[in-house]
Amino acid sequence: MSRTLSHPAFLSKRDPETPELLADLKTLPDAELTRVGALIKSILLLENATAPFTQNLTYVYTAPGPLASPECRADTCCVWSYVAEEMERDFRGPTGRCNEFARQAIRLGFHDAGTWSKSEGGSGADGSFVLGGEIARPINRGLEEINNKMWAYYHTFHSYGAGMADLVQMGATVAAAVCPQGPRILSFVGRNDSDVPAPEGRLPQATQDAEPLIALFEDKTIDRGDLITLLGAHTIGQQRFEDTARAGDPQSSTPGVWSTDFYRETPRNDTPKRVFKFHSDVEIATFEESLPLWGVFADPVNGLETWNSGYAAVYIRLSVLGVPHINNLVECTGVLPLPVRNYSAPDGAELSEWLNSDRAPMREEAILLMNGESLKGEV
Ligand code: HEM
Repeated sequence: MSRTLSHPAFLSKRDPETPELLADLKTLPDAELTRVGALIKSILLLENATAPFTQNLTYVYTAPGPLASPECRADTCCVWSYVAEEMERDFRGPTGRCNEFARQAIRLGFHDAGTWSKSEGGSGADGSFVLGGEIARPINRGLEEINNKMWAYYHTFHSYGAGMADLVQMGATVAAAVCPQGPRILSFVGRNDSDVPAPEGRLPQATQDAEPLIALFEDKTIDRGDLITLLGAHTIGQQRFEDTARAGDPQSSTPGVWSTDFYRETPRNDTPKRVFKFHSDVEIATFEESLPLWGVFADPVNGLETWNSGYAAVYIRLSVLGVPHINNLVECTGVLPLPVRNYSAPDGAELSEWLNSDRAPMREEAILLMNGESLKGEV
């Protein structure tokens, strides 16, 4: 069943007038743009929609020396190579699936940056989620473990130049690259930190209907198509707090794998018993105007590639919301792990059995999946 949205601008992101520039990129003449400023500008304008993740697919940054060495201190990206290495170790489970830290890292990147508002400004990608104690808010339940990890990274790497705002956003892009089939998104550093808690009421709730959610995201310069594109991140998730009676149940058949199953499964009624769909996702998936883009991403042949390039472009927008000096950021994508292009689960049969089993909260299998461990009980 589908419904119709009144808003005529839906899916008009290919209209050159629609994508909005942000912060200093709105006013700086092209002649004053740095390489990074020009790159981010072209991504925000969707001039080259595939660049955000294909450009640096294979480039690997090599640290010029140990973390504390003068050579490392002299190169902005060096500390980030050590950060990314530690994050990769923390985020990948023994099956190769990404674990709960990775999923939380992606959600954390959104919950820090997504507090910015076009109409009212304030906060954004400034690390205030962690530094300002926003973890205490009910909307942020489920992010406790990654919040603690971020503090640990900060204590290890801050004296070498890594700020919290960048740690949070680097966590989100390292995690996307670690999740099998995920994109390697262009990653930038140089954001300012803030310990001033962000204004409340700027993050979405899964109980909300499509219209208010779309309005909320439009106030972040994220249009309906962009929202659909970002929502696919739920494909890796295993909710714990939206319905505590079903804690551990996944949002698609592929928890911990960056697949397009979320797009195939969310609008349908015949999905495995354990797939737990958020009201908000179903709402957005079943609007008539959503169906074409939802269908593009659901395509079993080309959907993943299309979604990955779209996701990377929109995530870059999200990751610079509220940053006043985008032109001065530095690109460090080479520090990210290389992406895993093809993935075959070592425990496919057991996973399928569990997905179709009777619902019960947080059984052993759900915990194994959250850790990226095999349902066979061995690696
Ligand atoms: C309409 C907008 C959105 C709503 C209502 C929403 C809501 C939620 C809720 C309720 C959870 C489950 C938390 C829990 O119980 O543990 C969740 C998980 C998640 N969200 Fe969203 N979200 C939205 C948009 C986004 C966006 C834009 C991203 C990323 C770009 C994102 C990434 C994630 C991820 C990766 C998880 C899985 C976390 C885990 O398994 O630990 N979400 N979201």
